[in-house]
Amino acid sequence: MENHQPNNERAQWGSRLGFILAAAGSAVGLGNLWKFPYITYENGGGAFVLVYLAAIVLVGAPIMLGEILLGRRTQLGPVGAFRFLGRDRPGGRAWVGVGILGVVTGFVILSYYSVVAGWTLRYIVLALSGKLAPLADDPAALQTFFGTFLSNPWQQTFFHLSFMAATVGVVYFGVGHGIERAAKVLMPILFVILLALLFYVVWTPGFPRAVAFIFRPNFSELTRGGVLEALGHSFFTLSLGMGAMLTYGSYMKKRTSIPKAALTVCVLDTVIAVMACIIMFSIIFSFDIQTTKSSTILFTTLPVVFFKLPGGAVISALFYVLVAFAALTSTISLLEVVASYAIDELGWARRKATLIMGGSIALFGILNALSLGSVDSLSKINLIGRPSTAGVFGTLDYLASNWFLPVGGFLIALFVGWLLTKNETLQELEMGHGRMKTFGVWRFLIRFAAPLAVGAIIVSVILGAEYQ
Ligand code: TRP
Repeated sequence: MENHQPNNERAQWGSRLGFILAAAGSAVGLGNLWKFPYITYENGGGAFVLVYLAAIVLVGAPIMLGEILLGRRTQLGPVGAFRFLGRDRPGGRAWVGVGILGVVTGFVILSYYSVVAGWTLRYIVLALSGKLAPLADDPAALQTFFGTFLSNPWQQTFFHLSFMAATVGVVYFGVGHGIERAAKVLMPILFVILLALLFYVVWTPGFPRAVAFIFRPNFSELTRGGVLEALGHSFFTLSLGMGAMLTYGSYMKKRTSIPKAALTVCVLDTVIAVMACIIMFSIIFSFDIQTTKSSTILFTTLPVVFFKLPGGAVISALFYVLVAFAALTSTISLLEVVASYAIDELGWARRKATLIMGGSIALFGILNALSLGSVDSLSKINLIGRPSTAGVFGTLDYLASNWFLPVGGFLIALFVGWLLTKNETLQELEMGHGRMKTFGVWRFLIRFAAPLAVGAIIVSVILGAEYQ
């Protein structure tokens, strides 16, 4: 239900839970289910996970509070929020640039994210039609299948456009009837599937080894590149740095507590990422499988092992539905940033904004869908990742993840920490919350820890040394 406050035309979440599920939906996505398990695998497990957890607490969570605060205070999207709050402060109108960067970043990320999300649709069809089982019997055949699929321009375009259509279909109906309602249906299903899969893997022989791998830190495995990768990922996985959380915060009621909501979202995101690791590693460690191309685990390794276990057909179908749902609640948030820009700043009606912006992103994304020549090019794809030469796809991803998000996050932290007054931030964070005992800690983190850590990512990218 969209409630309108007096004198306020802006749509709002129907409830506190509505915001939490929508924001958790944005955060939980391919980053959790695809990227996190495989970078954890590549970085040797435990120690990397610890650094990642520290990054979430010391950098991610404080910036999330900062973003939501900016949105809720102004009831505007990133462009409007920075224009309004930047006006009488140092930098003035130049701050609008941070908002515009956010909208552009949303456009760019969505244009390739939905290509990968589209693959899950292909695999759902495959699993349900019974064709995955014979492929899974023969790892080489599955590799070939996946390679052929990637280099098939029609299929890539078709599944990308299908995923974009689903995304547009939700955002079209607005904040309450579209986004919130979708999140309220999809997120509980997602959580139930995850719990079911977790319950299932507890009985597999690989489970103890998986738990040890994830929770027993071995610091000799940790590299400088790994630390930076963990830091960068904490941004991507929490949907920070481009105004997605800011936009969702702008629909939040004044009587909702920002600190509690943000904390819940961070905890849900982290718990789900760790659950995904336990599930995937238990299954992989149950068999003696060498995963060399770890970035394709989801599509070339997992099916093989799914079918070695009882109930493989059901497990694999459930799994890809899970990934598709997680991705959909993320693509929704990316489109909402771009669409709400057109609504707020260009004065378009929501339906027009969603169709035109969604349509443009879909068309632009076809370039990405067509740039995936082979499985080899895929090894260069990273949702946040290394410098890549994988065509348009890799270049855009590299730009967005390594430049746009960190730079956006850095500027957001500076703005909230140094340009807003202590009282402004205190007032907004305590509104709907009561006295915030950890305010001092938060303020310290957003003024010092977050800019320093994010600055380190940026400097390392400039020096080109980020992931050896
Ligand atoms: N957080 C999502 C994931 O982990 C991706 C995502 C959605 C995102 N919206 C975002 C990333 C905004 C950065 C910014 O898959």
